[in-house]
Amino acid sequence: MKAIILCAGKGTRLRPLTHTSAKHLIPLANKPALEYGIEKIIECGIEEVGIIIGEETGEDIKMAIGDGKRWGIKIDYILQSEPLGLAHAVKIARPFLRDETFLMFLGDNLLKNGVSLYRHKFEKNKPQAFILLTKVENPEQFGVAEIKDNKVIRLVEKPKIPESDLALIGVYFFDRTIHQAIDSIKPSARGELEITDAIQWLVDNQYNVEATIIDGWWKDTGKPEDILEANRLILEDIIKDLEEARVDSKSKIFGRVNLAKNVEIINSTIMGPVVIGEGARIINSYIGPFTSLSDGVEVENSEIEYSIVMSNTQIKNIKHRMQNCLIGKDVSIYRSNDMPVVYGFILADDSRVRLI
Ligand code: G1P
Repeated sequence: MKAIILCAGKGTRLRPLTHTSAKHLIPLANKPALEYGIEKIIECGIEEVGIIIGEETGEDIKMAIGDGKRWGIKIDYILQSEPLGLAHAVKIARPFLRDETFLMFLGDNLLKNGVSLYRHKFEKNKPQAFILLTKVENPEQFGVAEIKDNKVIRLVEKPKIPESDLALIGVYFFDRTIHQAIDSIKPSARGELEITDAIQWLVDNQYNVEATIIDGWWKDTGKPEDILEANRLILEDIIKDLEEARVDSKSKIFGRVNLAKNVEIINSTIMGPVVIGEGARIINSYIGPFTSLSDGVEVENSEIEYSIVMSNTQIKNIKHRMQNCLIGKDVSIYRSNDMPVVYGFILADDSRVRLI
């Protein structure tokens, strides 16, 4: 069995971060989001993975993820030069997939538990498609499935009036029949070849489409608040490790805090779960729960919690506690005593600043 991971999306809702990098590379607990998906795929025993990339962010993804050797697998990259839909991505991956069964994984999805159990079920029952579902509060924002006696009877992409609250999470198993389905469907109103419509074609043509409701959390990381929530969920499972850091006697560390090599904590309080990357320095500060600080970050005379701060960013002398922040690389946020007393911003397109 092969796997394809779809990473061609532009991540417009995550601007400005996605102006300079792919949403799939945003660090969650200091690891690119996409690596969590790759690990789940490897865990279920798949060794040949095709990553579908777009024109704008493809090179960054290739550079960050590589050819798979570090995991002992093979990763190929397949360019989807236009965003013509998830089913279109499968279509262009056909030479890679040939007629094999495959797992399709949307690169911006995260799930707590692995997919091994589902691979096993798919291979045992051999349906043409096996879809994974979860109950959601906002089904109109997803593809939803109506189920009767464990069989899928209808699928609708982003229904205005949903008949079901079971959303398709971005994990699907298919056999080669899906290619015929994709060749038979037409683009949707939003101009995309929808995988949901291709699966509906299988249902309409009496093929076997099975579904299961997953255990454990699932998160689609399309929006900033989802990224922070995904970071929180991942931090819930981190382990305490202070071994390689330097923590001075005036600092206090509570709960599960994971400090990388050469981290320095001076006169500060860290309340886990928190991860801090290599060479970061925390001075006279408070780092609160559910915060990930990447390599080389410096926080001085400031307080921050429930946030993600990317590498080499500096935060200094901030009067009020920072919360719900998603901050990119090499950013500088500081209070200055210089005259005149003014706010000064150099912000990229689509930045958001909340002041008090
Ligand atoms: C896609 C699928 C949708 C699915 C969702 C899961 O939507 O089209 O059926 O429920 O992923 O994240 P998109 O996120 O591309 O709008």
